[in-house]
Amino acid sequence: MNPVYEKLMNAYDCYKEKIDFKPEVALVLGSGLGGFADEVDVKAVLPYEDIEGFPISTVLGHAGRFVFGYIGEVPVVLMQGRVHFYEGYDITDVVMPARLMKLMGAKILFLTNAAGGFGDGFHPGTLMMITDHIACFAPNPLVGPNIEELGTRFPDMSHIYDPKLQQVIREVAGREKIELEEGVYAQLTGPSFETPAEIRMLKAAGASACGMSTAVEAIAANHMGMRICGISCITNLAAGFSSERLTHAEVQQTADRVSEKFRRLVRETIKEIGKTQ
Ligand code: HPA
Repeated sequence: MNPVYEKLMNAYDCYKEKIDFKPEVALVLGSGLGGFADEVDVKAVLPYEDIEGFPISTVLGHAGRFVFGYIGEVPVVLMQGRVHFYEGYDITDVVMPARLMKLMGAKILFLTNAAGGFGDGFHPGTLMMITDHIACFAPNPLVGPNIEELGTRFPDMSHIYDPKLQQVIREVAGREKIELEEGVYAQLTGPSFETPAEIRMLKAAGASACGMSTAVEAIAANHMGMRICGISCITNLAAGFSSERLTHAEVQQTADRVSEKFRRLVRETIKEIGKTQ
């Protein structure tokens, strides 16, 4: 068996042994949304360390567990903490959790992250709905023999962020009076922040925000036929757009500052998704 698939199936067996809960929406919590589990009527928790072969994050501020429960009527699984490619994991390990959540039953993947922003009018604390991404500066998680059980060799990427889910997010933001920007997210490997020249290149290429996650997870989830949506919390202006030096502390501080509205937007969107599906 393909070793990537074998590892995934072993992880799935661990989940099935321990958890009797089938989620519909899978949510990946980025910086600042760690407390989002408070929004959930929790039914079960599965620490990553209890899952054979599961990648464990080394980044401070990233807990490591799946939380299962309900937001309104919607059964969800949350990832509290994710691993990043820059931690040294193989890119197939980075996307294994997203694949696992599809196997658990989730049809929708809701991705969130902290990002550096450079869209016009962006400021620290802006929330940006992801409309498309640039992932070609990070390794593609589908490289290697195609895993036919998961999806096709050459997946279409024309509408990777589901247009209907985008519309739900837009409408919820309007109703909740949450200012929402929209834009293209670029994933780079990190862990160093970008140079001003790199940011100018990304802006010229049509991106408005960048970070070190999300797009590869979207690629793997799209390969498996999931519907995907995503929101970035712009925690800082990217290099060259601010006179300040970039620090992880600033990223965390801004994420914490806007977490109330970020949480509200995500919570209400998931409730709305439950009504419209
Ligand atoms: N660059 C990349 N990743 C990030 C940034 C940034 O400026 N801020 C938060 N995550």
